[in-house]
Amino acid sequence: MRVPFGSVKRELVDCGEDVRAAVARVIESGWFVLGQEVEGFEAEFSAYLGGSPVVGVGSGTEAIHLALVAGGVEQGDYVVTVPNTAVPTVSAISAAGATPLLVDIDAASFTMDPDRLRELVAAQKPRLGRRLKAVVPVHLYGQCADMDPIMDIAREFELVVVEDAAQASGGEYKGRKAGTMGDFGAFSFYPSKNLGCYGDGGAVVARSSDGAQQIRMLRNYGQERRYYHEVKGFNSRLDEIQAGILRAKLKRLDTWNERRRRIVAIYQEMIGNSLVRRPVCMDYAVHAWHLYVIRHPRRDVLAAALAKRGVATLIHYPVPVHLQGAYRDLGLREGAYPVAEAAASEVLSLPMFPQLTESEVEYVCRQIDASE
Ligand SMILES: Cc1ncc(COP(=O)(O)O)c(C=O)c1O
Repeated sequence: MRVPFGSVKRELVDCGEDVRAAVARVIESGWFVLGQEVEGFEAEFSAYLGGSPVVGVGSGTEAIHLALVAGGVEQGDYVVTVPNTAVPTVSAISAAGATPLLVDIDAASFTMDPDRLRELVAAQKPRLGRRLKAVVPVHLYGQCADMDPIMDIAREFELVVVEDAAQASGGEYKGRKAGTMGDFGAFSFYPSKNLGCYGDGGAVVARSSDGAQQIRMLRNYGQERRYYHEVKGFNSRLDEIQAGILRAKLKRLDTWNERRRRIVAIYQEMIGNSLVRRPVCMDYAVHAWHLYVIRHPRRDVLAAALAKRGVATLIHYPVPVHLQGAYRDLGLREGAYPVAEAAASEVLSLPMFPQLTESEVEYVCRQIDASE
């Protein structure tokens, strides 16, 4: 048996008819940038998230970038995030002109450790003052960071909060949707995401209508109305075709996330290999299970054995941010973030997408046990 990591082809069996209709609708309308589809998607995603305003942008990276700029982050500022994230989280901080400050993660949730955040902010605030401007917790693998203590620290030290909800469409924290707790929430619609389009796309959900209006200007050259530019902006718009596709897929997001949970239940129950540590779903979370990530002390050996048996796996992520060549200038060495570094050396993502069959998941479990 061959078990792929993901499959857009199989997804199309579920939603292909609606997706093709959406694409045809846009092409025939002759209107491709900032029109009815983007407006429609923004309204529908806003309703899905509980009513906060949503603005469609060019990608998840851009969603974080524009949210930071709208939150007042400027050249020379500092923004706190975690080392074990997709590098684009940090690319967005750099794009806003800020320097990333990193805090280690909680060993169970793999998300920002609020105690480490408090330590760092309490130590750095007296030195950096208002230049310590924002914090970007990452809802990694589809599970929210522990937002209550993070929000308390942010309020106490006057930090803007931008949730990186790129991997967490449909996830929840204590009954609230991922992305809706901070000043801004940033979503990615990269094709493999729980809610993915067929190209690049992203969205910002804003706590306030003023914040949403800022993002609307920033994504469109800074103009409030055509040819009247209020702020220095960018070109970062969700396009009409992608928005039409997202409208077709948003209707299915909850059903698809439910299927992900069914797949997780099988993995959690059936994997018997004693060297494997299974992921933990925190009490506070409805996990969106973008990725199902196990830990194994000899991860590379296990990945190779699974590849031989036809099971595709990936590593999210093999190198933490502070050990990436691009961030050498942060001057951080191996050992700086022990929890994130240990995770990077042991994590392995198993096949996870809503259309995986139960027999495929069971096959993956058997192969994991056979390679003990
Ligand atoms: C955690 C996280 N943040 C940010 C991004 C960036 O999103 P995009 O690829 O849409 O720019 C991604 C996805 O790649 C991600 O997984």
